Amino acid sequence: MENKLKIGIIGLGTVGCGVVKVLSRFDDIEVAAVAVKNINKKREVEVKKITTDPYEIAKDSSVDIVVEVAGGLAVKDVLIEAIKNKKHIVTANKELLAKHGAELFDLAKENNVVIMYEAAVAGGIPIILPIKTSLKANEFNSVAGILNGTTNYILTKMEEDNLSYDECLLKAQKLGYAETDPTGDVEGYDAMYKIAILANIVFNKRIDYTKIYREGITKISAGDIQIANELGYKIKLIAQAKKVDNSDNLDIRVHPMLVDKNRSISEIKNATNAVLLSGFPVDKVMFVGPGAGQFPTASSVVGDILSIKAELHTNSCVLPMTMCNHSKYANIIDIDDTKNSYYLRISANNEPGVIGKIGLACGEFKINLSCIIQKGVIDNPNATIIVITENCYERDINSMIEKISKDNHIRVENKIRVM
Ligand SMILES: NC(=O)c1ccc[n+]([C@@H]2O[C@H](COP(=O)([O-])OP(=O)(O)OC[C@H]3O[C@@H](n4cnc5c(N)ncnc54)[C@H](OP(=O)(O)O)[C@@H]3O)[C@@H](O)[C@H]2O)c1
Repeated sequence: MENKLKIGIIGLGTVGCGVVKVLSRFDDIEVAAVAVKNINKKREVEVKKITTDPYEIAKDSSVDIVVEVAGGLAVKDVLIEAIKNKKHIVTANKELLAKHGAELFDLAKENNVVIMYEAAVAGGIPIILPIKTSLKANEFNSVAGILNGTTNYILTKMEEDNLSYDECLLKAQKLGYAETDPTGDVEGYDAMYKIAILANIVFNKRIDYTKIYREGITKISAGDIQIANELGYKIKLIAQAKKVDNSDNLDIRVHPMLVDKNRSISEIKNATNAVLLSGFPVDKVMFVGPGAGQFPTASSVVGDILSIKAELHTNSCVLPMTMCNHSKYANIIDIDDTKNSYYLRISANNEPGVIGKIGLACGEFKINLSCIIQKGVIDNPNATIIVITENCYERDINSMIEKISKDNHIRVENKIRVM
């Protein structure tokens, strides 16, 4: 077939191979060239031309769309070169967009090309384009989600199999759900990049990702999961961005939360992702699906390619609704100024007066308790006391913890926010 759409791909790993496989189903699209790091590596797919120089693709005048599925920040300059050469970009790279999106989107606008990134957030779930098009009529109050499959898998296994964090991490690594160095996932960086991207399009503001509060799941114990379960909650790594008291200020963060079992987001298991949007006039909508994996991610990448293809050569400006049209940065409030309900797991010497001391400390910082329970202490010198507070400021709960921690008989073992 003449006049095939020509795609240049940077990266031929899990996602890159998926994209090549899915594109082979389209007669009118050709993978013209692929760039990789190691040319001698055995590949799952065959391609016409393979190079170790990604700039060859960025400069190739026959290439219409550059698909970047290499990951990392080193590809930034390659994409800049491609944009300057008037190529539309499709990328799955959340870290690059969260850190350098502003520069890349400005440059794309200047060069009248688009950057599409459906695969960068929640893998196979269509969320970027729906927010920018089908949900365009809305003013959103919040976006929240389970955006990292690895951590959701680990937390699910900890609960279902009653295993420790370390045992479940090992399981996830064996199954290929977690990398050898799992830091990016388990410490919440991956979810932080994704919520930065989502907050940007939901609130039409640029997001300085360094201002996002981030906490991973490494401090969650099997005990926390069990106790939460008994109290009617599941523990999930939640990434959220919301307006503060209907002002322009945003509260954006990533951390584990106790989620009421009655909330549908608590049902999201294993590597599945979910995104929950709340706004007017739609009210609440939840998107659920595979957050990663070769084919789900390729589904989003190829969807972006087809969206561009449908309009290429027909308009002076391709997909105008997908362009980034804002340049102001959001004001993100400090975690100390956020309000939450908290779960505290406290270990204390099994002696009279301990619960009273905790109650007094809470009273001093005007923290109302919604529940306080002492777990069975027969023949045990230590008691586990669980406290759930009503909504209070982060700075007050921290001051209260600091105060009771001065008592040698009381140790706050964990603090988890409640959704
Ligand atoms: N895996 C998923 O399920 C998933 C889901 C959503 C988004 N993503 C995103 O998609 C991107 C790719 O992920 P992946 O899992 O496919 O990674 P991967 O399996 O590690 O593959 C990366 C590929 O990029 C190539 N590469 C790396 N640096 C390069 C460079 N400077 N120039 C040319 N080629 C380079 C590598 O070459 P060699 O093969 O020669 O080493 C490899 O083929 C990442 O941004 C990731 O965050 C992945």
